[in-house]
Amino acid sequence: MKDLIIRSERVQDTEKFANVIASLIKKHDLILLKGELGSGKTTFARSIINSKYFANDVGHIVPSPTFSLLQTYEFNKRIIGHADLYRVQNKEEMTVLDLQKIIDEGSLIVEWPEIIDSTISANILNINFEIQDNTLNLLVDDGGGWKDRIRSISLKS
Ligand SMILES: Nc1ncnc2c1ncn2[C@@H]1O[C@H](COP(=O)(O)OP(=O)(O)OP(=O)(O)O)[C@@H](O)[C@H]1O
Ligand SMILES: [Mg+2]
Repeated sequence: MKDLIIRSERVQDTEKFANVIASLIKKHDLILLKGELGSGKTTFARSIINSKYFANDVGHIVPSPTFSLLQTYEFNKRIIGHADLYRVQNKEEMTVLDLQKIIDEGSLIVEWPEIIDSTISANILNINFEIQDNTLNLLVDDGGGWKDRIRSISLKS
């Protein structure tokens, strides 16, 4: 059973839900975005960064970290990382990225997070992007530390 399912018919629905999550993110959070290629993970992560850090100012560009693997943003002393681990092959590359450091200093959103091991220390939110019958569903569940915040979203929606 998922804690929460958001039906996203249009990009704007995904952006709206990203804005809700952006308002809840705190230091030491890790948001894991799973789902097939092109299912909307970067769209979601970009919306979080734009709304939380750039006040939706369109002058800022939030690229996909497909090739850079990791981008970090800092605004008003708040740090957020955005990683895409699709191309990461092994644990050595993971060590170089040092994702734990970003989580310790701020928060982190990760696409293709399957290679992350369970020793990582964070409050984890899992979001699965599933396309069914041409509709995107965002399946949300607590990975430790997000239960109350997920409940607060459920109560509002
Ligand atoms: N409801 C929706 N939510 C999010 N994106 C949508 C939706 N409907 C259509 N799209 C489009 O689908 C595409 C999703 O691309 P995006 O780069 O976000 O996927 P991704 O999951 O990050 O892919 P990858 O696995 O390659 O990193 C975008 O072009 C976006 O405009
Ligand atoms: Mg992507």
